[in-house]
Amino acid sequence: MTSTQEDLIVQAQSLFAQAQDAASLENAKAKFLGKQGAITALMKGLAQLEPEQKKAEGARINQVKREIESLLTDRRAQMAADELNHRLAAERIDVTLPGRGRGMGGIHPVIQTWQRVEAIFRSIGFEVADGPEIEDDWTNFTALNNPENHPARSMQDTFYVDMQDDKGLPYLLRTHTSPMQVRYARQHTPPIKVIAPGRTYRVDSDATHSPMFHQVEGLWIAEDISFADLKGVYTNFLRAFFESDDLVVRFRPSFFPFTEPSAEIDMMFTQGPKKGRWLEISGSGQVHPDVVRNFGLDPERYIGFAFGSGLERLTMLRYGVNDLRQFYEGDLRFLKQFNR
Ligand code: FA5
Ligand code: MG
Repeated sequence: MTSTQEDLIVQAQSLFAQAQDAASLENAKAKFLGKQGAITALMKGLAQLEPEQKKAEGARINQVKREIESLLTDRRAQMAADELNHRLAAERIDVTLPGRGRGMGGIHPVIQTWQRVEAIFRSIGFEVADGPEIEDDWTNFTALNNPENHPARSMQDTFYVDMQDDKGLPYLLRTHTSPMQVRYARQHTPPIKVIAPGRTYRVDSDATHSPMFHQVEGLWIAEDISFADLKGVYTNFLRAFFESDDLVVRFRPSFFPFTEPSAEIDMMFTQGPKKGRWLEISGSGQVHPDVVRNFGLDPERYIGFAFGSGLERLTMLRYGVNDLRQFYEGDLRFLKQFNR
């Protein structure tokens, strides 16, 4: 082998080593073994030689060629091994680890409250209704005595949807479950006893307000009921919900455009660690005559009572949770406490 031929081998070795993927290795191979490659050129040169020289030189060139081919095969094998090792490292499975198993799912504490509220109201003859979270302007506001541009609307700033109703007003994410009063009463004949639990939305965020939250609406329409009936039903609901008679309920005068008179419902525990503090849990009132008319009913004949309670608030009170945002952070350490 001439020193030029040995140089070729050294060159090939170094180029093959530099190649980091199959494509560049093929390029490097072509420099030696391809049609324009160095070995091919040497072979072509044989034509100029005498027969004796041709044989000896041909044998040398063939040896160089074999060496280069074997370097190539080695490099290919090494590349394949490297890739395998890389994948093994990246996709390592520790077979000695315990299996992950299938975690037991649990019901979210606010949904547990939802289910509890449904069970209690069903047991005293209330229907349960469901309605859309994307609501039209008339049903969420106007039908409930919140005319366009009325300042009371600003108490319930919400999220609008890029889609208009037949009055040219944008749809919105309902700010309360009260539009369900309108939907249900327009489709049913009194006497009506219904609750409508569901998701509601407002531009709110602090320890007691979340942008998505849950309310349960209650509506009772009949010819011969009074505020005393609402008080009785709601107070009994709270006693059943908290499994306690050690609580007092107060109806505190308030304002809602769709009820008159209106009251906030506050409650206080009289025993136990949470005793001694009034807490607001609900709005309520006698449905305003104009709203009864929007239901398609005669306010001279029918009396309606309604309430709208926050399911997060009821859950907070039941378990002594101080910050409602914890319900929505998805921290299993928190959530697991409600599923034992
Ligand atoms: C209303 O939404 C009225 N629709 C309630 C009503 C119904 C009055 C029927 C009369 C007749 P208010 O904005 O106060 O009222 O909300 C009612 C309850 O929802 C509150 O007492 C509170 O418990 C809960 N709530 C309101 N905003 C939020 C919020 N951002 N996050 C969590 N809970 C909320
Ligand atoms: Mg309120």
